[in-house]
Amino acid sequence: MSSRDQFASKIGFILAAAGSAVGLGAIWKFPYMAGNHGGSVFIILFIAFLFFISLPVLIAEFMIGRRGQADAVTSFKQQAPGKPWYLVGYLGTIMASLILSFYSVVGGWILSYLIRAFTFRLKSGDSESFEQLFHTIIQNPWEAVFAQGMFLLITIGIVQAGIKSGIERASKWMMPTLFIFFLILVVRSLTLPGAMEGIRFMFVPDWNQLNWETVLLALGQAFFTLSVGVSVMITYASYLGENEQIGSASIHVALMNIFISILAGLVIFPAVFALGFQPDAGPGLAFVILPAVFEQMPLGSLFVILFFILLLFATLTSSISMLEILVSVVIGKRRTNRVRIAWIGGLLIFIVGIPSTLSFGIWSHIQIADKSIFDTVDFLTNGIGMPIGAFFISLFAGYYYKTAISKQELNTHPLFYYVWLVLIRFVTPVAIVIIFIQGIRNVL
Ligand code: PHE
Repeated sequence: MSSRDQFASKIGFILAAAGSAVGLGAIWKFPYMAGNHGGSVFIILFIAFLFFISLPVLIAEFMIGRRGQADAVTSFKQQAPGKPWYLVGYLGTIMASLILSFYSVVGGWILSYLIRAFTFRLKSGDSESFEQLFHTIIQNPWEAVFAQGMFLLITIGIVQAGIKSGIERASKWMMPTLFIFFLILVVRSLTLPGAMEGIRFMFVPDWNQLNWETVLLALGQAFFTLSVGVSVMITYASYLGENEQIGSASIHVALMNIFISILAGLVIFPAVFALGFQPDAGPGLAFVILPAVFEQMPLGSLFVILFFILLLFATLTSSISMLEILVSVVIGKRRTNRVRIAWIGGLLIFIVGIPSTLSFGIWSHIQIADKSIFDTVDFLTNGIGMPIGAFFISLFAGYYYKTAISKQELNTHPLFYYVWLVLIRFVTPVAIVIIFIQGIRNVL
């Protein structure tokens, strides 16, 4: 398939993979999940799962994608002809599309905030009005659905342009700028009076908070934040040339992600306590706290514009990876029109996502097993689909691949290879099964 796009440079690939990984998962989801589920206990579990369960799966996805040099489904078909492994690719495609259906809801909120920031209407005067503002935005069906549609339009626009011109270029400057912004914000947040309470919440564990639901959600978060289990990383690695080091690329991606997650926590939790908010505010947490922190800064109303632009980019570099897997699977080996498929796929995802958007407003009364529609789709993908996908991917790389193959693919120090092999063969699948069964029992 010589006509397939490839990443132009190694750094381009790492940035694109990190771009897929670093997004709302680290900046929006991580703080509110930690806030809702016991702070430090959740954070400790999350970090452990990220390194010992999610990272090995990320490496596995990179291997499968690079060897396949094709979309997620074809990659499995080529490497395991006549066997049902390709279903993992389909599962991932459906899950990634479902994730995008609710991810775009939050993407829409960012656009709404951005418009207000541009017109300097992102001010409060008192802390409660940021909460009000958030509710006004998410409850207004027209604005929320329109903003969600706009977010998807931008996503489609980038994906239809193709992997190299769109994705690689967008990722190059965004990530470093975002880092710097977060560092400044951390300093501001940590110097607020009363900030230490937030540090305690994040780092001093209260083991009474430990339960199977928290464990399952921390595992889900470790998958979500690295974009693993749904074959998105298989798709990206399929654009990767022979000579790249999969091991170091994946470690880079994981470290960047932890770093941004912790930074997001260090901005949000000290401010939560210092400014008199509650850590368990749910999905609105980042949207209420971040503008409130900016308000405490000189030139805050200017910085907040830049910040939401960066957040939008971080979110887009993730959303495009979700649409890309769908587009690449549908294109497959055919030479069908990328542009048309991106539009049709994006439109379908938009329609599927509308109930999630409305579940914060006029459809908030609809509950499925005590969860809103938004939370249900989140749980179906993050709590169920991702662990199942990750489980099979770990079996594929750990057992289906001969060790000669995985050794050659990883192409690294033998010690590192054997650590990976033990993790992917024994630790990852076993841990997923135990946590999954216990967690599901607990939730249902
Ligand atoms: N990792 C992305 C984030 O943290 C979300 C994502 C999940 C992207 C699954 C692709 C696939 O925002």
